[in-house]
Amino acid sequence: MKQLFIFALGLASPLHVAADPASYDAQIIRSLPHEGAPFTQGLELVDHSRLIETSGAYPEGTESFIRMIDLKDGSVLQTTKSGLAGRFAEDVAPTATGWLVATYHDGKAVRFNADLSVESEVDYPIEEGWGLCRDSQEDRYFATNGTEFLMELDSETLALKRVAPVTCMGYKVPGLNELEFVADFNGKGPTVFGNLYKTRFVLGIDPSTFECTSVFDLEGFGEQDPQEEYGFHVANGIAYLPGSKTFLVTGKNWQNMFEISLEAAGNTHREKLRKKLRHFASQTASFLATGMRSQIPALPSTDVRGKLRVTRREPERAIAPDESHSPEA
Ligand SMILES: *[C@@H]1O[C@H](CO)[C@@H](O)[C@H](O)[C@H]1NC(C)=O
Repeated sequence: MKQLFIFALGLASPLHVAADPASYDAQIIRSLPHEGAPFTQGLELVDHSRLIETSGAYPEGTESFIRMIDLKDGSVLQTTKSGLAGRFAEDVAPTATGWLVATYHDGKAVRFNADLSVESEVDYPIEEGWGLCRDSQEDRYFATNGTEFLMELDSETLALKRVAPVTCMGYKVPGLNELEFVADFNGKGPTVFGNLYKTRFVLGIDPSTFECTSVFDLEGFGEQDPQEEYGFHVANGIAYLPGSKTFLVTGKNWQNMFEISLEAAGNTHREKLRKKLRHFASQTASFLATGMRSQIPALPSTDVRGKLRVTRREPERAIAPDESHSPEA
């Protein structure tokens, strides 16, 4: 009956019956300043003690950069715009010896050495660069381009090796943005995590089937902008901290980064997450051809921009950064 009703409304119906993803409740352990509140496009852990972050050139008048951050207190250790001038930097992923930064529309990626000096510029096979992460076990990259497709790239040549849609509860899901590879998530094996553009969902994807196996949301983290559904101020940036099995998350122009732990969601939260995710997936699936195509939102009117909804979610417990929660070496 419900399916018929949804169908009659013109919304897409699931491709097949698929298992619901495991739902998690994200608890804030500590909050760190997000210096300069940049337009975050990539976030990765470096040597258990630092973060590497990329920012796109937004709003107009700003430039893309890559920077190194101290995980203890969020302070910026090093920043460079080298190799990114006139470009829109996207996600960053490790290489064997340094970093690889995707760009939005240039068909190029930039290789950086570990010290953030530019090593080279390489062809990037994806017309519109979005997310990028490295599976160091299987030695391959995964990338997205704003559509429902997840792409596997050769670690050396970056050649496309596999292209298939991400599915969640049987629906194709477009808009996976910043990506993070977790070698073993919660004993469930390798998982590709990604921020879902224009939402506060983070999906965990099985890299062999491209089906979503985990979901949590960042609802109520920091300030929430009513324009997020149009692409402003969206959650973007996930770094996994294997030592403490926690995640560092932030968003575009967010004032803070948050270290979070995940716990299995209780019944109420699980049902809420599923309902919202199903609604999002069924709706976006019906306008795949036009939805989720731009990383760069058009400027809304100032009266709307001025109104930040202040639904700040504070850390559950205050833990000094260098005490019990510093990641293990
Ligand atoms: C995204 O990638 C898919 C699969 O490779 C391709 O068909 C599509 O044209 C690409 N779209 C954009 C906007 O880059």
